[in-house]
Amino acid sequence: MSYRIPLFDLNYGPEEVQALADTIRDNWISMGPRCEAFEREFAALLDAPYALTVDNCTNALFLALRALGVGAGDEVLVPSLTFVATVNAVRYVGAEPVFCDIAGPDNLCLSPDEIEAKITSRTKAVIVMHYGGFPCDMRRIMAVAAKRGLRVVEDACHGPLSVWEGRRIGTIGDIGCFSFFSNKNISTGEGGMMTFRDQALFERAKLLRSHGMTTTSYQRAGGHSTQYDVIDLGYNFRMDDLRAALGRVQLQRLPKDLEQRARVRGWYESRLEGLPEITVPFAGHNGFVSNYIFVVALKEGGAGRRDRVRERLHAQGIQTSVHYPCAHRFSLYRERAGHLPWSEFASDHLITLPMYSKLTEEQVCEIVDTLKQVVVEP
Ligand SMILES: Cc1ncc(COP(=O)(O)O)c(C=O)c1O
Repeated sequence: MSYRIPLFDLNYGPEEVQALADTIRDNWISMGPRCEAFEREFAALLDAPYALTVDNCTNALFLALRALGVGAGDEVLVPSLTFVATVNAVRYVGAEPVFCDIAGPDNLCLSPDEIEAKITSRTKAVIVMHYGGFPCDMRRIMAVAAKRGLRVVEDACHGPLSVWEGRRIGTIGDIGCFSFFSNKNISTGEGGMMTFRDQALFERAKLLRSHGMTTTSYQRAGGHSTQYDVIDLGYNFRMDDLRAALGRVQLQRLPKDLEQRARVRGWYESRLEGLPEITVPFAGHNGFVSNYIFVVALKEGGAGRRDRVRERLHAQGIQTSVHYPCAHRFSLYRERAGHLPWSEFASDHLITLPMYSKLTEEQVCEIVDTLKQVVVEP
């Protein structure tokens, strides 16, 4: 079925079409000058010392852990209320994910207390995920990491340009990882970016991104070099210039797109205020954030009631989602999981409502009115 009001809508225009056409006309479509330009522009916009394009964020997270030397026998602290890729990346390097709870029903980001409580002598790193683009408590998390010698990877998939204490998320820990999957704030179909503060880490990730080879095909095609050596066991995690061309246009659109999303969030928040059945996590947050998604939580009733509410919205042509089913309750992770009360509560009560910059005030009104109606049905 196609929805009257979908969960997400692309903000593409003629500029994206033109950028693709120009790339094809220039006759270089794999990783090349457009990837490099995208990296420079992304780094400049976020004020990150280094940025590296990759093929997706799942591989970015894996590459981050590899570059940091996390491996077999190590433990990595992770949220459970995240997309499962955050957790899988830990397994790819042979390390053990240790699930930590979120702060609570109003703040769906990792709890610094949980992080501190779950550190053992084997803990090597923590992956924080800035839920919906709302920053984790990086002051406390960075302090704990410094005190206990942990590396910090930021899964910043939800938050390009979100601000934490004057800095962009993804530039605070050791490595930031971003996704440009079609429904993200920057859409290139598939794609991702890594950001670094440290040059050596950046160089290592760059080498591993492309087979551990010392030169790229673009450098060789340009006659800058004719040979290469392979000095580490690398991968093919490259972006291509077609996606980079889309990403550069999307990056230009981003600031205005996020301003409009903030307006959409404001419409939602004012209309949902005081509704007895529902809370709005992060309500009233006053920093600049990406508003990647807009979620509400039922106050009670569990997953069964939540699913009935979603079903009724679906019947009215309004698409919703759940961000996320807890990773620690998936079959793959169940046996190593403890009890994470707030993550489980959130997972059973959250509903993701439509959020994108083209959404009109009338549509937000309609979504909220429909929600108000269906949430009181038995
Ligand atoms: C929080 C989070 N982490 C990781 C990923 C994985 O990103 P990608 O689809 O680019 O591999 C996603 C994308 O859905 C995500 O939302």
